[in-house]
Amino acid sequence: MTQRTTVKTQVAIIGAGPAGLMLSHLLATAGITSTVIELRSREEIHRTVRAGILEHGTVNLLVDSGVSDRVLREGDKHDGIELRFNGESHRIDFKDLVGEAVWLYPQTDVFADLAARREADGGDVRYGVTDVSAEDVETNPRVLFTDVDGTDWELQAEFLVGADGSRSHCRSRIPEAARRRYFHEYPFAWFGILAEAPHSSPELIYANSPHGFALISQRTETVQRMYFQCDPAENLAGWDDDRIWAELRRRVNGNGFELKEGPVIDKVVLPFRSFVQEPMRHGKLFLAGDAAHTVPPTGAKGLNLAIHDVKVLFEAFESFFRSGSTALLDGYSGGALDRVWKAQHFSYWMTSMLHQLPAADDFERSRQLGELRSVVSSRHGRAYLAEAYTGWPSA
Ligand code: DHB
Repeated sequence: MTQRTTVKTQVAIIGAGPAGLMLSHLLATAGITSTVIELRSREEIHRTVRAGILEHGTVNLLVDSGVSDRVLREGDKHDGIELRFNGESHRIDFKDLVGEAVWLYPQTDVFADLAARREADGGDVRYGVTDVSAEDVETNPRVLFTDVDGTDWELQAEFLVGADGSRSHCRSRIPEAARRRYFHEYPFAWFGILAEAPHSSPELIYANSPHGFALISQRTETVQRMYFQCDPAENLAGWDDDRIWAELRRRVNGNGFELKEGPVIDKVVLPFRSFVQEPMRHGKLFLAGDAAHTVPPTGAKGLNLAIHDVKVLFEAFESFFRSGSTALLDGYSGGALDRVWKAQHFSYWMTSMLHQLPAADDFERSRQLGELRSVVSSRHGRAYLAEAYTGWPSA
């Protein structure tokens, strides 16, 4: 038998991505102890390039809970986006339509802010652990793991949170008979690049073209993020800078609009799928973020959804540890899933409206343009998109 060092905490959290760290931080503000363990090193998480759009609710939580106000100083507030089709751009004016905005602030900066805050507050976050296994999740959760120095631990907790991402170990601890999984595959992926170039336009451009979808996003004054629809089996090696820019140009340039080009410094193919596991709770185990759900990237809902899960879960833990009431814990899964399915629909809708299906015929192509026109020509249509994109009010 392995000799294990035993340690106790109120909430054990598996996964130190934004969801796990945010929860640990919020719990600390209420005097609730937590230990976070993570397979990857802090540097490895920080290097991962992810989406860059934060809903106003996500920004408020980061700032108001005291993580950091760097997003307000270094992030860019965006009051709208452009939908581009048939060679024309149509602005969706968030501010005018719903009185809200989003912030362009990359997920890697959100992670850096959270990791720095947890460190400064003396939070117990252990990166680079191995051999993680969650036991007795129904009644008496324990997490076995080995730390970077090779010491074996047994972490005992009142509750366990699986915030361990899209390849979650925790979600499989919910027995098959007690769970349901939903999958939806899409016949395409995104080719994502970082390029050294100035902004091509003040706001993000979501483009539907006969050659496929393209998204013109941003990172800094001198580095831009762009994506274009590609085959899921696309080989990065076949794409030099000239071929990438030619592809982007034919999807977005025209009618006086021209992309500003420059050297491509990063390339990646991003898979596309929708996934949900229900319920998000089993006994003492709670799932949060990608561990329970994945959305396709169109509309940038993934991180925002994870942060919303964690906000609702924090309020439930806070209520339980303050009053002993389990009412909010019992309502967690249903409440979180309500928003998850709204976001699944929104991400699916944006995806299907803007991408070309490989098998699309002329009817489908013209129907899609009709759909886009029905959105941009109606204040109600634009407001529907704006409310979902900037983030629905919390229930
Ligand atoms: C980004 C990614 C998205 O999926 C999106 O809808 C908008 C922006 C980004 O990485 O900047």
